[in-house]
Amino acid sequence: MIDTIIKSILSRMDRGDNRIFFVETGTDQAGTVAQVAVWFSAMDTRFGRITGFKSIRGGGPWYTEPLQFPQLVDVQDARLKIMTIDNFPPAFQNVRKRFPDNPNIIPVLNSSPTQLEKMIAEGQLDGCERLFYLDAHWEDYWPLRDELAQVIELKRFVAVIDDCFVPGKSDPRDARSGFGYDVYNGRKLEWNYIRDLFEGVDFDYRLYYPERPASAERGYLLLLAGYSREEEARLVEGLPLFPMAADDPLHLQFSDIIPNPLGDFKSLVRSLLPLAFVRGTLQFILRLLPSR
Ligand SMILES: C[S@@+](CC[C@H](N)C(=O)[O-])C[C@H]1O[C@@H](n2cnc3c(N)ncnc32)[C@H](O)[C@@H]1O
Repeated sequence: MIDTIIKSILSRMDRGDNRIFFVETGTDQAGTVAQVAVWFSAMDTRFGRITGFKSIRGGGPWYTEPLQFPQLVDVQDARLKIMTIDNFPPAFQNVRKRFPDNPNIIPVLNSSPTQLEKMIAEGQLDGCERLFYLDAHWEDYWPLRDELAQVIELKRFVAVIDDCFVPGKSDPRDARSGFGYDVYNGRKLEWNYIRDLFEGVDFDYRLYYPERPASAERGYLLLLAGYSREEEARLVEGLPLFPMAADDPLHLQFSDIIPNPLGDFKSLVRSLLPLAFVRGTLQFILRLLPSR
């Protein structure tokens, strides 16, 4: 789930009359959409007024923890938009069902790099402040590098790379301890995995890591690209984040980690059964259970 620090950054991006696009890759149960919708409704009355919350199971590793979905009324075309992209049809349907007919919350069924390429080529994000929350994974194809290759074309953006190794905080031998991070095919999600994409870019960018883990004890990397020093200071000042130079050796040491799939029951299930089958079955069971 998204860190509350991002709420502060989004509200500092807001000048009261500008458009802000929050683009999430990887929707799943739409928990982050629900959270950002709450933040946006407090920032722009046109985003809608919250009359209450509907509790739906969908959080935690087995989708058994309740997520709170704001019930929005008086919704108009707002300056603030949420787009969330997933290539798994039930994830797309989750948003359609939980935020029906909402012009400000846009679910997209597509592979994330394809969708980002299309939006950027069509200029859909031009003239907006953009914050990308990059959280699409779980399949054999890990789209992060292809997503970033598209986002970089914008030259000015904020990107949050969820589940990233935090140097000096994450445990290099245990991806699941505090400041947890993702590992695919023995490769950690860390700055080293993506930094070559930024070689030779013609804009300034800076990197920040959280001083404390996001909810669910996960790490992340915050990338600010194309902002002046003054704008950057305004966005991050006083927040529990620490900067790290792109060439700081602390996050340049290449480090493989060999995860033990038998140590993680969920990974074991996934290696034996197709992911779509496991997720579809869980969603079916959840639909049979009464709402909390
Ligand atoms: C960790 S979940 C996302 C969680 C969500 N962002 C949240 O905060 O609640 C990862 C999601 O990425 C999606 N995904 C995997 N590969 C993708 C791709 N190539 N394009 C779009 N979504 C993808 C999966 O279907 C899954 O729903």
